[in-house]
Amino acid sequence: MGIIFSVKKLAKYFPVGGKTLKAVDCLTFEIYEREVYGVVGESGSGKSTLGRCMLNLVEPTAGEVIFGDEIMPMSELARKSPARMKSLRRDMQVVFQNPNSSFNPKMTIGRALYNAASFFGLKGGGRDRIHELLDYVNLDRSVLSRYSNALSGGEMQRLAIVRALIPSPRFVMADEPVSALDVSVQAQILNILGEMKNRFGLTMMFISHELTVVEHICDRIMVMYLGAMMELGPVEELFGNPLHPYTRALLDSRPKTSPDEKKTREMLEGEIPGAVDIPAGCRFFSRCPDAVRECGEIPPELYKVTDFHFVACHLVRDTVGNN
Ligand SMILES: Nc1ncnc2c1ncn2[C@@H]1O[C@H](COP(=O)(O)OP(=O)(O)OP(=O)(O)O)[C@@H](O)[C@H]1O
Ligand SMILES: [Mg+2]
Repeated sequence: MGIIFSVKKLAKYFPVGGKTLKAVDCLTFEIYEREVYGVVGESGSGKSTLGRCMLNLVEPTAGEVIFGDEIMPMSELARKSPARMKSLRRDMQVVFQNPNSSFNPKMTIGRALYNAASFFGLKGGGRDRIHELLDYVNLDRSVLSRYSNALSGGEMQRLAIVRALIPSPRFVMADEPVSALDVSVQAQILNILGEMKNRFGLTMMFISHELTVVEHICDRIMVMYLGAMMELGPVEELFGNPLHPYTRALLDSRPKTSPDEKKTREMLEGEIPGAVDIPAGCRFFSRCPDAVRECGEIPPELYKVTDFHFVACHLVRDTVGNN
């Protein structure tokens, strides 16, 4: 399995009122070619900031991201090369939560899509590609002559997917792509996103604050809390054998499919603390139902449970040993 992304000790800090807000704090992980990598955590855990650093949209405070031959932050020289910037834009595409904000309301959908196709120099202006992609997302070609404000949220998100796929990217980042949609529409969009990997042979990072959303799409999931990794593992392992108290709390706070389903553990209590003045020990200490004294004093390392399952929790270290 090749590696498409290598994120090394990545940090992004923001100065806020004379203090430092650590939105992303020393994250290290890799994304394999053709996998769907999920990033899950509550609002404010740093998911979008991580995504923006990986897409070269913001400069990290420290660390680096390697995508193919490019190392980000890019050097001055690389940044001045239009060919390299363009190839990066072609290879890495993004689908955001709110598709309307990324379509110009004064432009027909057709014009927006053909502009994207011409920017990337597609054959025949990209007509065949756009038609193929409209078929893929199940939209009629008549949308091309319409404007974004006349279309539904679900239709616009299908179009955002079309636009992202136009240049045949190697990597697509989906940042909360269904959070703004009606529940009835969410499943349809998730199906489209779920099929993309095989249909187009691409790699995806899927950001969500809900575990249920990523369950059927992702191959592996990273659980984030206050800018750091709490747990990382294959989806079956994370759902079948969740080890971090935060992961378990997220699983327990999922909407229940049946009203009889009993809560086995405490629901996640309290708000996520601010990312300013992060506590000395484990970040989850203040809300952890299982915390012991050590947890408030020493930050846990990332312990390896199996070859693919990692957990940052002192209590897990005690059960698996420090290997
Ligand atoms: N430009 C900025 N300036 C200052 N603080 C910022 C900036 N961007 C993000 N933050 C802060 O960084 C932290 C992480 O934000 P981020 O948007 O990455 O979280 P998120 O996990 O994507 O949350 P959500 O689920 O709400 O989208 C938050 O505390 C946020 O307020
Ligand atoms: Mg976000």
